[in-house]
Amino acid sequence: MEIQKIMVIGAGQMGSGIAQVCASAGFDVILHDIKEEFVNKGYHSIEKQLQRQVEKGRLTPQEKDETLQRITPSVELSNARFIDIAIEAVVEKMDVKTTLFHELDQLAPDHAILATNTSSLPITEIAAATKRPEKVIGMHFMNPVPVMKLVEIIRGLATDDEVFQNIYDLTKKLNKVPVEVNDFPGFVSNRILMPMINEAIYTVYEGVASPEAVDEVMKLGMNHPMGPLTLADFIGLDTCLFIMETLHEGFGDDKYRPCPLLRKYVKAGWLGKKTGRGFYSY
Ligand code: NAI
Repeated sequence: MEIQKIMVIGAGQMGSGIAQVCASAGFDVILHDIKEEFVNKGYHSIEKQLQRQVEKGRLTPQEKDETLQRITPSVELSNARFIDIAIEAVVEKMDVKTTLFHELDQLAPDHAILATNTSSLPITEIAAATKRPEKVIGMHFMNPVPVMKLVEIIRGLATDDEVFQNIYDLTKKLNKVPVEVNDFPGFVSNRILMPMINEAIYTVYEGVASPEAVDEVMKLGMNHPMGPLTLADFIGLDTCLFIMETLHEGFGDDKYRPCPLLRKYVKAGWLGKKTGRGFYSY
C-alpha cells in the first residue's frame, strides 16, 4: 500500500514532532487534537522549529512554507475518513487510547493502518478495541522527534506482516531508523530508561543528593548527554508516572514501584518543562 495521507492524533510535544517529520518528508498531514487551541499550539511549535532550521541555513524559507502547507489542522475526528494511516500520540492512558481507537476504527477507510506512539502500553490491548487488529501497530518515536533517529516498531499479536513492512518502510522514508521489538510493557527503551529515571527520583526523595547533583553525576560520570531528572522534565512527569505504573502492573515486580515523590509532583501539576516546573523551573 502506498501511504500518502497521515493523520497525527494529539498535537502535544510528540504529535507535533511527528507531524513535522511527516510533512518534511513530503506527506500530507492532518494534525488533530480535541481543541483548536491545542492544535494551534502544536502547529505554532512546528512553525517555530522550521523557522529555526531556516535561520541555521538548513532549510529555505520556501521549503518551510511548503512543509507547513502540507499540514492541515483538525478538531473533527471524522477527517479520518480521508487517511491511509493514523499515528496516535495522545495522553498515555489505556482508556483514552482504546476509546479513540474504537472511534477511529469506525471512521477510517478499511485499508487504513492505525499506529500508536505509546511509550509502554500493550499494542495487543489497544488493537483489541478495533475490528482490524491486524492493522494496528506500535510506532514509538523518541523525543524530540525531529532530532532523534530511533523508532521502535512493535507488532501486536495479530499485526499483519504486510502492515509491519509498510511501517518499516514509512519509518525509513521519514529518515528514521526502525528497530523491531516485542510487545512487552515499556518495550526496550522505557523498560531500561524509566527505572533509571525512577531511581534518580528516589535518590532525591531519600536525600542522597540534590537534582542538580544527581544530573551532574550521570552526565560527567556516565557520559549521558543529559541528566535523568532533566530528561524526566523533558519527557513530562505525568508520562513518566504512567509508564512506571504500566511496568509495575505489567511485571508485578516491586522494583518498578513509582517513587512517591514522582506521584507528589504529578499531583501538584509539576509536570516538567511543559508546565514550567518539574525538578527544575522553566
Ligand atoms: P502531551 O501531553 O504533550 O500531548 C498529548 C496531546 O494529546 C495533548 O495535546 C492533548 O490535548 C491530546 N489529546 C488527549 N486526548 C485526546 C484525544 N482523545 N484526541 C485527540 N487528542 C487528545 O503528551 P506527549 O508527551 O506528546 O505524549 C503523547 C504520547 O506519546 C503518549 O502516549 C506518550 O507516552 C508518548 N511518548 C512520549 C514521549 C515523551 O518523551 N514525552 C516519548 C515517546 C512517546
